[in-house]
Amino acid sequence: MAQLWGGRFTKETDQLVYNFNASISFDKKFYQQDIRGSIAHVTMLAKQGILTEEEKKQIIGGLQGILKDVQEGRLEISDKYEDIHSFVEANLIDRIGEPGKKLHTGRSRNDQVALDMKLYTRDEILEVDALLKSLLEELLKIMEENLDTFMPGFTHLQKAQPITLAHHMGAYFEMFKRDRSRMADIYKRMNTCPLGSGALAGTTYPLDREYTAELLDFDSATLNSMDSVSDRDYLIEFLSALSTIMMHLSRFSEEVIIWNTNEYQFVEIDDAYSTGSSIMPQKKNPDIAELVRGKTGRVYGALMSMLTTMKGIPLAYNKDMQEDKELTFDAIDTVKGCLALFTGMISTMTFNKNRMEDSAKNGFTNATDAADYLVNHGVAFRDAHGIVGQLVLYCIDKGISLDEMSLEEYQKISPVFREDIYEAISMKTCVEKRTTIGAPGQEAMKQIIAVNKKYLEEN
Ligand code: ARG
Repeated sequence: MAQLWGGRFTKETDQLVYNFNASISFDKKFYQQDIRGSIAHVTMLAKQGILTEEEKKQIIGGLQGILKDVQEGRLEISDKYEDIHSFVEANLIDRIGEPGKKLHTGRSRNDQVALDMKLYTRDEILEVDALLKSLLEELLKIMEENLDTFMPGFTHLQKAQPITLAHHMGAYFEMFKRDRSRMADIYKRMNTCPLGSGALAGTTYPLDREYTAELLDFDSATLNSMDSVSDRDYLIEFLSALSTIMMHLSRFSEEVIIWNTNEYQFVEIDDAYSTGSSIMPQKKNPDIAELVRGKTGRVYGALMSMLTTMKGIPLAYNKDMQEDKELTFDAIDTVKGCLALFTGMISTMTFNKNRMEDSAKNGFTNATDAADYLVNHGVAFRDAHGIVGQLVLYCIDKGISLDEMSLEEYQKISPVFREDIYEAISMKTCVEKRTTIGAPGQEAMKQIIAVNKKYLEEN
């Protein structure tokens, strides 16, 4: 057992208590951030005359040595320490002796851990953002290549109206773009430095908190020391945004799974991203998409855990808050893994364009356009709706699509129909006539692609 306290105790900590209380097994993940925070703290202490320049030099040298040794595998972060803070401090004292004992001047583990977690989260927000950007780049590529790949658009998972693959991918583009903007919002709101808040009530040393904040690239210092050490709002926001990313990935996965079925065959997932069955030799399963869909529950779970953990905590720091780490780390690693794999899966997936177009043709997705044709020829929309309903019934009965009906057959149901009905209900016309902002028509889509291209260049 190696802990930073013990002076007022007359007995050793029970081993089970020690194990239950210790956090080193997971907070070692942010050793770099812990050391970075300590270097900033010591730099500030020296500037304020609380430490001498010589002490500062020795401490920083020692901390940099620890960092290098851990990074290069010479020093193992052993579980015999209570937490990462104890590990670093004990090692520092071993290395440089007396000055090492001054590292914790004007600091508590409460503001220290609040800082470490913020530094760690900030780095991870940027990583998640970069992965989202790669996914967006991939989506934009698919969009550019599929402006005239017709497919059915669905509502209620029933074929509804014709769209293009570019338009369908464009919907996900918007979702992941919003996810990126959430990352930016959270980063901005959380970017205040808690260091110097002490255990809960600041310290009596003349710390320059704005200076430390600046050294650590924060926008400013936090404004209330009790809130500083007990604020985990940003983690809740981050977990919520991560949950939303997973919700988007899960919806997308569900579609890939459906599209990859033998019944649809809209896509074929690459062999490198599929798995087989131990018993059924013919199988090629979309496990990656299923796992992404499945892991969504785990990330939602982290958000619920965090909200529940925080809900009954009186001010200021309480040990409950140590629970923030494992679940946040797990959620971050899960989302990063899912984003990377999902991007790989869709960039190697083959789109079966003919199959998509046939499916759009055979599902009466142009029925609304047939009704619009009648309206353009003076029929009231409600009557047109009824007439096209009859056409659809007729086609279902004969097992044909609307464009396979002869003109005589059309005219038997309504004399308004002329030869140009075929042109009016072709997939191309149906899509091309949809030219409002956000619609699937090629010109409208090209504009959106240009906007999104610019967005990716600038963000
Ligand atoms: N491991 C602790 C945590 O994650 C560090 C803070 C300890 N503070 C305390 N007062 N025991 O929250």
